[in-house]
Amino acid sequence: MLEKFRDITARKPSGWLGKRLYEDPKAHRESFRLILEKLDLKSDDSYLEVACGGGVLLEMALKIVSRAAAIDHSADMVELTMERNKAAVKSGVAEVVEGNAESLPWPDESFSCAACANAFFFIEHPELVLSEISRVLEPKGRLVFTTCSGESSLIAILFKRPYNLKTYPDEQMQRMLYSAGFSVAEVNTVSGIQVWVAQKA
Ligand SMILES: C[S@@+](CC[C@H](N)C(=O)[O-])C[C@H]1O[C@@H](n2cnc3c(N)ncnc32)[C@H](O)[C@@H]1O
Repeated sequence: MLEKFRDITARKPSGWLGKRLYEDPKAHRESFRLILEKLDLKSDDSYLEVACGGGVLLEMALKIVSRAAAIDHSADMVELTMERNKAAVKSGVAEVVEGNAESLPWPDESFSCAACANAFFFIEHPELVLSEISRVLEPKGRLVFTTCSGESSLIAILFKRPYNLKTYPDEQMQRMLYSAGFSVAEVNTVSGIQVWVAQKA
């Protein structure tokens, strides 16, 4: 029962409630702002978003970049994202794909930067996802993602156990990033939310 609720509302949002929650996830706006600030997008960037949910961050990125792609394993989230960004999808500027972040459907070195907001804690095999993101990024490609810190915090108390969030000590996250070919430029933790900023070698 709890697992089903967790899926519908967060891990793989679906149905009326899932769509309602992600068509404008106001509580995520601050993480979107931080990601865009750290990514420092330029018009010639090709942007990848992993676990795009309802496509609000993609829409913000598309105001700057000339090419973008997004992936989510929820069919309903892909539909929302396409609807929200329909002009960009129709013109071919944006591509939105239903699929698992553990196997990205793009060739090596396809993007100059990547983002992932509020989803890393649901990933079953984080090393695989990081190495896939690294594979599809160009050399020096940037990655920024927000996730839940491993330290105890209000966020952890409220969400970690009920939502079965996977969190990692900073040293472990750094090791996973290094093994995937990234150097870590920065990590900021505010009230239990982490922003990781990394760059492919
Ligand atoms: C909490 S929602 C966050 C959505 C959006 N990024 C945001 O911040 O509003 C988590 C998202 O991650 C997606 N997701 C989780 N695991 C995934 C995976 N292995 N591959 C692709 N998408 C995944 C879910 O479908 C969901 O849309």
